[in-house]
Amino acid sequence: MSANKKLLVLPGDGIGPEVMDEVERVVEWLDKKRRVTFSVERGLVGGAAYDADGTPLTDATMEKAQGADAVLLGAVGGPKWETLPFEHRPERGLLRLRKEMALFANLRPAQVFAPLVDASSLKPELVRGLDIMILRELTGGVYFGEPRGIETLSDGQKRGFNTQSYTTSEIERVARVGFELARKRGNKLCSVEKANVMESGVLWREVVQALGDKDYPDVQLSHMYADNCAMQLVRAPKQFDVIVTDNLFGDILSDCAAMLTGSLGMLPSASLGAADESGRRKALYEPVHGSAPDIAGQGKANPLATLLSFAMMLRYSFDMDEDAKLIEQGVEKLLAQGVRTPDIRLEGTPTVTTKEMGKALIAEMEILARD
Ligand code: IPM
Ligand code: MG
Repeated sequence: MSANKKLLVLPGDGIGPEVMDEVERVVEWLDKKRRVTFSVERGLVGGAAYDADGTPLTDATMEKAQGADAVLLGAVGGPKWETLPFEHRPERGLLRLRKEMALFANLRPAQVFAPLVDASSLKPELVRGLDIMILRELTGGVYFGEPRGIETLSDGQKRGFNTQSYTTSEIERVARVGFELARKRGNKLCSVEKANVMESGVLWREVVQALGDKDYPDVQLSHMYADNCAMQLVRAPKQFDVIVTDNLFGDILSDCAAMLTGSLGMLPSASLGAADESGRRKALYEPVHGSAPDIAGQGKANPLATLLSFAMMLRYSFDMDEDAKLIEQGVEKLLAQGVRTPDIRLEGTPTVTTKEMGKALIAEMEILARD
């Protein structure tokens, strides 16, 4: 049996807790199969943390996250907290985790599962077999740039402002992850910015190109403006392999790419820090979807994005490729059998609840593990 792995689970708000319950079901199953032992601790983040402690992330939870082998997060946010000042907003809890754990590389794979081809809003031939990886820079750019604020001008009107900024090293370290990912996949990297209007984009392009020339001449590198990339993603998405881009463009383009796959409810993500001497990276895994307050607590949420995020955790944090595949293959089989939550429902067929989906996955994994 593998050594004990310390997992911090932060279900968060909205549908977060209910999708996370299904992950815990899989964790228990893995424990029972004695494949691995996890010690799981639960904590609060987002609005749930604000309601309990008056802050979207306590220092104690932050410390636990720093000490965990991996963090799994559900979702944060909801209308209940939308009128709070910025520093108390649920989103700040998530941003603090990303920033203080220095999780600069956010991997957002957009993969179309064959049985879901028809769930996409694009024509089947455009998305069949689609497999792209959006690599989003996660700790810099306009999300964190200073100065920022809302000030009152002398004429009485207000001015809101933020700063987009990137240093050479910030660009280089995320680009390096992009080149490495490309090498393990289709060997193509497309770097995305707005070098036609932004100085930070000019630097971004220069640094990525220089790194490619120096260390990755074997990887096919291209550059694209972000607006064109958005257009190309819905015109001909299969032209892409790995896309590397900044924090804000990555936020937008990854939602766009996610929808190509039929539902936001399917998409996992991994946020990784730099490797230490032992090769270990700090890591946080979370679904790309939000807290979906409109369907929270009704058993309608699709737990697959969170389950697939957990699979990414097994692969990237714990080198448990076989177990990750067990989850991914289980998901594929369920979809092929027509087991669907409402977000990916087939016309005229019944849907399953969040819990039923989780249980069905365990049953599939049970069969796959036997073969
Ligand atoms: C995401 C989300 C977050 C972001 C929000 C919840 C702060 O949209 O992870 O894509 O903007 O990064
Ligand atoms: Mg987003």
